[in-house]
Amino acid sequence: MSSLVVVGVQWGDEGKGKVVDLLAREADIIVRFQGGNNAGHTLVVGGKKTIVRLIPSGVLHAGKICVIGNGVVIDPQVLVEEIDTLQQQGCLSEASLLKISETAHLIMPYHKAIDLARERLRGEGRIGTTGRGIGPTYEDKMARVGIRIIDLLDEHVFREKLTHNLQEKNIYLGAILKEQALDYDQIFDGYCRLRDRLAPYVTNTSRYLHQEITRGRKVLFEGAQGTMLDVDHGTYPYVTSSNTIAGAVCAGVGIAPQQINGVIGISKAYTTRVGSGPFPTELLGPEGEKLRRDGGEFGTVTGRPRRCGWFDAVVARTAARLNGINSIALTKIDVLSGFPTLRVCTAYGYQGQHYDEVPASARILEQLTPIYEELPGWSERLTDLRSLDALPLTARRYVERIEQLVGVPVKMISVGAGREETILIRPSFF
Ligand code: IMP
Repeated sequence: MSSLVVVGVQWGDEGKGKVVDLLAREADIIVRFQGGNNAGHTLVVGGKKTIVRLIPSGVLHAGKICVIGNGVVIDPQVLVEEIDTLQQQGCLSEASLLKISETAHLIMPYHKAIDLARERLRGEGRIGTTGRGIGPTYEDKMARVGIRIIDLLDEHVFREKLTHNLQEKNIYLGAILKEQALDYDQIFDGYCRLRDRLAPYVTNTSRYLHQEITRGRKVLFEGAQGTMLDVDHGTYPYVTSSNTIAGAVCAGVGIAPQQINGVIGISKAYTTRVGSGPFPTELLGPEGEKLRRDGGEFGTVTGRPRRCGWFDAVVARTAARLNGINSIALTKIDVLSGFPTLRVCTAYGYQGQHYDEVPASARILEQLTPIYEELPGWSERLTDLRSLDALPLTARRYVERIEQLVGVPVKMISVGAGREETILIRPSFF
């Protein structure tokens, strides 16, 4: 296989960063195709923690090429800061190691202001966005008034687009959202400075990837967020504003469907979600508290406590079908140590109906009853284990049951945050 997609099975935060970092050893090129700096991928190498938000998680491997595709929305300030931090750590030593799509859209200061103000006004009905301006930027892209990297590179075009957009946005910010107007010169000067920093990396990444895939180079596409946050297939309206499923790769980088060979789904051994929205297997009592504490379940980007619950096979089954997942990487199984009994949701019940996939209605999702199966837990610490055989029998049974319920084999098990804290059932994924 020469090109693989990695996607989140649940509501994001499944540990994609760690898995991509591991798979990147075998890859030549690692690519982001959607989302923006609402994602935060945590990498732990040799005990040292690095968080990347925009640059693909393969960046810590020397000599690998990282690509930010056209489907990503870019906050140039965040990207420049990330490049600086990574360069201080000895990464991205040459400009050729990072390629940014010329047609990716820019997050502008008014997008962030609108995102934050709308959430404030929504009150109880808020989506719980990350407040990074992601939604408003995708809105402008679809409304065909977005500003792309290529527009920033042409000062004349940038001036025109910014002038037009800012006039409209300032009226909206003031009259509807009751916010301060933003200053044109400040934005223009700041973005021109950032443009000079980013210009060396900008290219036609669609064409570049086509050429490299044709040459047989191994490419890893790194999804952000998770399947249940997909704007079309997730728990709408409590979703992000991009398509997060594997099918989004083609549009998000500009390659053909035939150029994708496999899909790996990353799933936590339990479930978490940040922000608002339905969460059928959520645990509101001490069991949820234990998962949050033992799993360190606090948002990478916003620091918010994550909502925690049992593994939901309905969610995973739906994600397996939507993405065409060939294998699962099951993460954070070590966090489940110490529960005498574990529960796994096998289906949903609602007014006498039985659901084996996630229903589209948010109202049904909020009112349904999860149908659980109980499995015996284990008390042993799993973090030092490196083979399937070394796992307690009950943990192996738990993994096997997940495979049966989802219909996809588990090929990698993560037992800790570190790169080496992994049980590899399949030695190679490419
Ligand atoms: P937005 O993407 O900032 O617009 O937020 C929309 C929803 O997606 C909110 O519930 C966020 O908490 C969630 N979300 C966005 N990015 C991530 C992520 O990387 N991990 C988990 N949840 C996310």
